[in-house]
Amino acid sequence: MIILDKIKVGIVGYGTIGKRVADAVMLQDDMELVGVTGNSYNFRMEVANMNKIPIFNICDKKLFEENNIKLAGNFDDLLNSVDIVIDCSPKPHGKENKEKYYIPNKIKAIFQGGEKPDVAEVSFVAQCNYSEAMNKDYVRVVSCNTTGLSRTLGAIDKAYGITDVHATMVRRGADPGDIFHGPINAIVPVLEMPSHHGPDVRTVLHDLNIFTTAMSVSSTLMHMHSVIVDLKKKPTTEEVIDLLKNTTRVRVVRNAERVRSTAEIMEFARDLGRNRGDMYEICLWEEAIGAEKNKLFFIQAIHQESDVVPENIDCIRAMMGFEDAEKSIKMTNKTLGIK
Ligand SMILES: NC(=O)c1ccc[n+]([C@@H]2O[C@H](COP(=O)([O-])OP(=O)(O)OC[C@H]3O[C@@H](n4cnc5c(N)ncnc54)[C@H](OP(=O)(O)O)[C@@H]3O)[C@@H](O)[C@H]2O)c1
Repeated sequence: MIILDKIKVGIVGYGTIGKRVADAVMLQDDMELVGVTGNSYNFRMEVANMNKIPIFNICDKKLFEENNIKLAGNFDDLLNSVDIVIDCSPKPHGKENKEKYYIPNKIKAIFQGGEKPDVAEVSFVAQCNYSEAMNKDYVRVVSCNTTGLSRTLGAIDKAYGITDVHATMVRRGADPGDIFHGPINAIVPVLEMPSHHGPDVRTVLHDLNIFTTAMSVSSTLMHMHSVIVDLKKKPTTEEVIDLLKNTTRVRVVRNAERVRSTAEIMEFARDLGRNRGDMYEICLWEEAIGAEKNKLFFIQAIHQESDVVPENIDCIRAMMGFEDAEKSIKMTNKTLGIK
């Protein structure tokens, strides 16, 4: 039996996305989590320490020493020990870290959706454009909303041919652990046309005609999208439901099973025993999928904290030269319990 070297991965930024991606890396047989960066002392560092995840300080090491956190090294040590980093810092620090650290150290890096597309050579959603990221040095995993739109629209486009998409994003005001953002009691429209989501989808599905609008609401659980698609071929509702049921990382949920809201989707994920109660799949309500002439209507919900986690794992494989997209997606899905 040939034992291949594991891909050595470092995580820069151990917040909402970084801590989840770190856990997912540890589940992969072909990857090794070398460690995560510590940017300040906080409860996440305590949890990483408890779970024996090596921490490399990117700030004054005294902060950690005073709190009895043993460091594995500093940021330079991390960069010297990895094949690839996943930068999960808040925008625009990914771009700054690229110029300051990754380019001079010749290290491959994955960036997140908060960064502008030009931070990377390619913007990525595994089931749409895996091959474009093959052997690249810098790739951006797109935002949670763009990932959600790309997964469902990519599948629909392949089956029917899309002429136009109009989508409205109803965005959660803040993540559940965030005490600084809102709104608390308002609905806030995005005052630009189109919202940035449409152009962002085109960084993945390059030829798609898509126009998006957006608003933020007083919720922390998930985003919701209301989508209208014009198709070249006339669809039937049943066929589309079937297509989406058979699309990876997409889940068709039903009023009939008492999943009627984002709250119940999150409860469903907790009952599935998912790590942190995460729902990696984009959820569409079966009863809210409808076809009328050449138009298709659907409503989908996005768990913003987790849908990009499997994408980061597949992105590592693509950038490290693993050619088989379908196999990578299957390997990642199996470890995360995705159908
Ligand atoms: N949250 C979401 O819903 C979501 C969904 C999809 C994509 N994204 C994207 O993912 C990226 C990260 O977002 P997030 O929500 O995970 O942010 P977050 O929860 O605020 O976590 C950011 C992490 O990066 C650390 N950090 C801050 N400045 C840094 C720097 N200069 N270098 C290295 N690390 C630094 C922070 O440390 P401290 O704790 O010490 O500040 C924290 O550990 C963004 O591009 C975002 O747009 C977020």
